[in-house]
Amino acid sequence: METEKSTEAYVNYAHSPDNAWVKTERRIFDYLFSRFYKDRFNYLNNESKVNIPKIKTAFGQTLPENFSVLDLGTATGRVATRMIEYGVRPRNIVAVDIDLAKLDDSHFPIDVQKIHGDVVNISELLSNKFRDSRVNFELITANMLFHLLTYDDYVSCLSQVRNHVREYRSRLMMVVPHPLREELESIREYHSQKSTTETAPWGGRINYQIKTIQDYVRGLREAGFTTTFIGTAGVEIGEDSRLFLHDEAVWSELERYRKTGHHTKLPHCFRLWLVATPSGDLF
Ligand SMILES: C[S@@+](CC[C@H](N)C(=O)[O-])C[C@H]1O[C@@H](n2cnc3c(N)ncnc32)[C@H](O)[C@@H]1O
Repeated sequence: METEKSTEAYVNYAHSPDNAWVKTERRIFDYLFSRFYKDRFNYLNNESKVNIPKIKTAFGQTLPENFSVLDLGTATGRVATRMIEYGVRPRNIVAVDIDLAKLDDSHFPIDVQKIHGDVVNISELLSNKFRDSRVNFELITANMLFHLLTYDDYVSCLSQVRNHVREYRSRLMMVVPHPLREELESIREYHSQKSTTETAPWGGRINYQIKTIQDYVRGLREAGFTTTFIGTAGVEIGEDSRLFLHDEAVWSELERYRKTGHHTKLPHCFRLWLVATPSGDLF
């Protein structure tokens, strides 16, 4: 958790016009949500499952009233705010963070339900809040949280979350710093799963629990999810390819960075995103 001063610095950074959220993360969520929305709701009221063109295209018009979202590591609620812009009712969003000052910040969206606590105890937090162990979410979001958790805590949190996802068409969407960002020089270190402390763009210190791409995928599987999409974003190699890069483009960009000598890391906004669906029994 951060001190009062670094929380203030974080908030100033997080709500400035030019940061990783604006450059990359918000765009990832926009893309993933619109894709999810099409998959899930295009067939609504359409028993024959024929994909007829939609007449109403604005999200807010057809998103069901009770569509519910759980946002993990919400900070000042940027993801929650974006969900409201998509048409989700604020009261159907539950946003969790360990740092009370961020939840109490003036940017936090009105009427979103906040929970102050550690996501590693998410089941307990939810049952304390709702007095109902069967509380269910249709979308789980986690932007820039899971790199802060150890592998075991990551799996533990997701396993608990899995108990609150009861539909096959539900989704988990997560974004983390791209694991390759840190280890341009040494693929051996990339596999060593160490933790490092680094200075964040807003000046605070972050204890970063490095996990490989495979760890993220394996953790999802252990927790009862199936990874359905995975992608990279944030290397600025032209407007069109900025958001979704082919592997070759990522590797050639890595190579270019490496060759320039003074760059040993990729840009700060280089991200990995994963989308998962629940696997196993739904109850
Ligand atoms: C980089 S910020 C995420 C920003 C936010 N998701 C967004 O997109 O605006 C990481 C957040 O995770 C929170 N956090 C870190 N570890 C946590 C934990 N174990 N439980 C709950 N929140 C945690 C931090 O307090 C911080 O607000």
